[in-house]
Amino acid sequence: MTQPKTAAIILAAGRGTRMQSALPKVMHPVAGMPMVAHSITHALAAGLSPIAMVVAPGMDTVADAAHKRSTQARIAIQTEQLGTAHAVLCAKETLADFDGNLIVLYGDTPLVQAETITQLSDALMADAKNAIAVLGFTPREPGAYGRLVVEHGALTRIVEAKDATPAERAIPLCNSGVVALRGEHAWGLLERIGNNNAKGEYYLTDAVALANAAGLRAVVVEADADEVLGVNSRVELAEAEAIFQRRARARHLARGVTLLDPASVYFSADTDIAADVLIEPQVFFGPGVTVASGAHIKAFSHLEGCRVGPNATVGPFARLRPGTQLGPEVKVGNFVELKKANIAAGAKISHLSYIGDARVGEDANIGAGTITCNYDGYNKFDTVIGRDVFVGSNSALVAPVNIGDGAMIAAGSVITEDVAPDALALGRARQEHKLEWAKFFRDNKTK
Ligand code: UD1
Ligand code: CA
Repeated sequence: MTQPKTAAIILAAGRGTRMQSALPKVMHPVAGMPMVAHSITHALAAGLSPIAMVVAPGMDTVADAAHKRSTQARIAIQTEQLGTAHAVLCAKETLADFDGNLIVLYGDTPLVQAETITQLSDALMADAKNAIAVLGFTPREPGAYGRLVVEHGALTRIVEAKDATPAERAIPLCNSGVVALRGEHAWGLLERIGNNNAKGEYYLTDAVALANAAGLRAVVVEADADEVLGVNSRVELAEAEAIFQRRARARHLARGVTLLDPASVYFSADTDIAADVLIEPQVFFGPGVTVASGAHIKAFSHLEGCRVGPNATVGPFARLRPGTQLGPEVKVGNFVELKKANIAAGAKISHLSYIGDARVGEDANIGAGTITCNYDGYNKFDTVIGRDVFVGSNSALVAPVNIGDGAMIAAGSVITEDVAPDALALGRARQEHKLEWAKFFRDNKTK
């Protein structure tokens, strides 16, 4: 079906007091990305445009996060939280130039997938009489959710739990909150919604009964309960994270990534791993990681903001920090920390090193315990290590410093000056020998 023009309105004005947090609720991350950015990501993936976000006054961080995800996002302010219909209406002005369909999403419901949004849109457009499509689900505990009243196959109204009769409360099918409204009817229906109900709020859900009364129809699309989980507390945040991680593991396995112990590997929303990568247990991917085919990430490694090249090996116990790039066949071994380090093809940093603000040339070998001293307490400086360089164990390279191609650094050196290509640099005290000294020392000790 060709997609009609559809805007997203993402509601995010709630304070989220149950999070017990100084941070607005929708700024809490799931898989390393604020929840609100997940909602925008899915809306974009479903082709929704424009995207309007409704926030409360002072929620500048939420607006910034929205713009970071999409510079086109439009922000509307709801000064008083008078209910979900009121919140949607707050976006009307910012959508004055738009007359297509509307899909209402929530900033605290980060797991609703693009395909589901598209299904909802398709259901809305399936019949010319449909004015509304509601995303329903059957929760284990219907609790406070709105109940969907379906009569003769049509959704006739939604009753909020607080306003429901016992018979209505027994309905298992509930409102996820996600709603699609046909453009020609949307604002008219929303503007007719009143607040004569248990909470004294303008309920978006009342649009369904109003549509039916006007001779229009409403339909339901049923979603998986996991997908429409709304986050109101830290417990639900942890649940959302768990659901996200389960899906991410399944997605990576399906794509050809081997996970020896899937449940112990954590992904970020943007983790990008090619087929034929092998990931051992207890690996954490922070935001911004790309791993190319054939790479092997060994146990207990932590990666963020980095690219791992084809057939590279990382870990066990490696830490790759932002700005790190590993070329093909690079080997990074145990207890190695890399930050803003560009490591060219075939180079090896096998043990116990810190390499930061550095470039390491092709096939260079960085010995155990090598440290780039990149920071003087005020500024950071670069270390450039050429191709085929051999750095002996336990060397300190005091930046800024340049090691020419093919040079060797003697073990235990402190290198403060540039080293010419193919030279040997020694920067350590010369070894002295005092013959018989040890024996003399021992003989003079009284036992
Ligand atoms: C709403 C639905 C209910 C549904 C449930 C799903 C209505 C009337 N009820 O109930 O049928 O089962 O969601 O979770 O729509 N918000 C604003 N401004 C407001 C009010 C709300 O931005 O004035 C935002 C909140 O931040 C929240 C979302 O809208 O993200 C839902 O609002 P909330 O008050 O939690 O609605 P529920 O009572 O849970
Ligand atoms: Ca809610």
